[in-house]
Amino acid sequence: MIDTDTDTTIDLQLLLRHPKSTDGHQVNSLIERCKPLDTNSTYCNLLQCLHFADTCMLAEDEEDGSLLGFISAYRKPAEPSTLFVWQVAIDKRARGEGLARTLLNTLLDADACAGVTHLETTITADNAPSWGLFESLARSQGTGQGERHLLFDQQRHFNGDSSSEILYRIALG
Ligand SMILES: CC(C)(COP(=O)(O)OP(=O)(O)OC[C@H]1O[C@@H](n2cnc3c(N)ncnc32)[C@H](O)[C@@H]1OP(=O)(O)O)[C@@H](O)C(=O)NCCC(=O)NCCS
Repeated sequence: MIDTDTDTTIDLQLLLRHPKSTDGHQVNSLIERCKPLDTNSTYCNLLQCLHFADTCMLAEDEEDGSLLGFISAYRKPAEPSTLFVWQVAIDKRARGEGLARTLLNTLLDADACAGVTHLETTITADNAPSWGLFESLARSQGTGQGERHLLFDQQRHFNGDSSSEILYRIALG
């Protein structure tokens, strides 16, 4: 298992670590090039990398320092035993190598996730890669199947501008 208390190298010559505020700008660019993710303001990503650094995780190329993966997440304020995963973004050149799964597992092993018993995220119905990632996590780390229900409705919450977001909740084993 990867030790998250120290910077850790995995097979792809990547360094996995929690972000720093100076990573926020690169995170913003990564999110922008990882469609269909919602783009964020740079300020939003700076705050994630500063105030939520302990529950976020990134992967950088050891050769040139470029950012290849990022997960933003936080413990729900009213239910801290649940980790809510906001976005997962893997640069195209690093996909299909298990990096998203490794980043998620590394984050769940981090000190900041001690006592986390559930993971939640939201996924649009048509995002097959995201369903693939989180259903795989439910099989490997959870009880096999997550629960699903509509969290944000296309009309009621997005006024028709975005697809509905389905909450996917995994009980971690
Ligand atoms: C979704 C995404 C994060 C996956 O990253 P990745 O590093 O390629 O994923 P991994 O290689 O770790 O694969 C993890 C699991 O997801 C599945 N998966 C990955 N890409 C998939 C795809 N295009 N279609 C279906 N399943 C997929 C894998 O088969 C794997 O399952 P397994 O463990 O049963 O083999 C990446 O494609 C991405 O950044 N997409 C754009 C942004 C996005 O949609 N993010 C969604 C999360 S908010």
